[in-house]
Amino acid sequence: MSTTFATEPSLSPTLPPRVDSSRRTLRLRCPVCAESVGPMDPLDTSSQLGCSECGFVFKTLCGTWKALAPSREQRFEQFIREYQAVRTREGRGSAGAHFYLSLPYKDLTGRNSWQWKIRGRSFRFLEQKILPVLEEIFPHRADVLDIGAGNCWMSYRLALRGHRPTAVDLQLDDQDGLGAARHYLNYLSEPFPRFQAEMDRLPFDEGTFDVAIFNASFHYSEDYVRTLKEALRCLRPPGHILIVDSPFYKREESGRQMVEERRAKFQETYGFRSDSISSREFLTAETMNELTRELGLAWQICRPWHGLSWALRPLRARLLGRREPAKFLIAWGTVETQ
Ligand SMILES: C[S@@+](CC[C@H](N)C(=O)[O-])C[C@H]1O[C@@H](n2cnc3c(N)ncnc32)[C@H](O)[C@@H]1O
Repeated sequence: MSTTFATEPSLSPTLPPRVDSSRRTLRLRCPVCAESVGPMDPLDTSSQLGCSECGFVFKTLCGTWKALAPSREQRFEQFIREYQAVRTREGRGSAGAHFYLSLPYKDLTGRNSWQWKIRGRSFRFLEQKILPVLEEIFPHRADVLDIGAGNCWMSYRLALRGHRPTAVDLQLDDQDGLGAARHYLNYLSEPFPRFQAEMDRLPFDEGTFDVAIFNASFHYSEDYVRTLKEALRCLRPPGHILIVDSPFYKREESGRQMVEERRAKFQETYGFRSDSISSREFLTAETMNELTRELGLAWQICRPWHGLSWALRPLRARLLGRREPAKFLIAWGTVETQ
């Protein structure tokens, strides 16, 4: 299979090939009582859908389905507020569509370029090495769950390749959260569904998707086994899991040190430690082994090239007597078959 690699972001409308002309349905599951709610057209956001068991109603807000249980809305309220405050101060997002359409290759605002450089390089690896393999496995393209989708750039990029993404995040806001998806809509032949939901209570029935991707979001999990079990529940066997742009360390101690430094920096800069949820924050080889033991997942660990200066960071850190820096590897997991 041949692949073309975009070296420059394309800002002109690129319509994906229509693979399937039928309207897509999703089978939902109630985030409160886990009862199956049945198939629905996720693009018909004029309707309301209710759980016949507990009465929870899926409502929409600006095209996004709200699928957080009320008790969980309270649980995440502080996290959502503090996360937005930090991201606003960091200058995330933009008023114009061009910024979003250029991601992840280029940060047109220039405010977080170093981070988008990493995201862009990881995504190029995905485009060159991983998506072509998945596209051979799923020649009619895949139903992809984009978990912790943020401003939905990944869903947009996958939709351009003809996949059928569904974006999930806690953040609704229209600069840095699911609301930013409005910028892509004119460039796609069909919008992709968005759900405000938590990674540990996905509002979908068993076997709804082929691939789950966590781009820079898996380390927000409070319990990796629970989070992956929930993602796997929503996948058709064998199920492909992609963990991209989460920090990996050789030593547990380095990860712990990074977390402490980060919290102290938040406290100094913003006046809070941003620890209202106990995210795991990083991964190690031992964590991946634990996930294999617990879930029977086989991992392929990929090492995207993030540039010479990035590659020299461990050596530089050793010479300067600093802690080990993070690596951004890609973990591609599938359930091992007997
Ligand atoms: C660093 S951002 C990454 C966003 C996007 N995937 C990207 O690559 O730019 C992490 C995202 O994970 C989301 N997130 C954190 N905890 C979550 C949870 N428990 N459930 C769903 N999303 C979560 C955050 O709201 C945030 O948008």
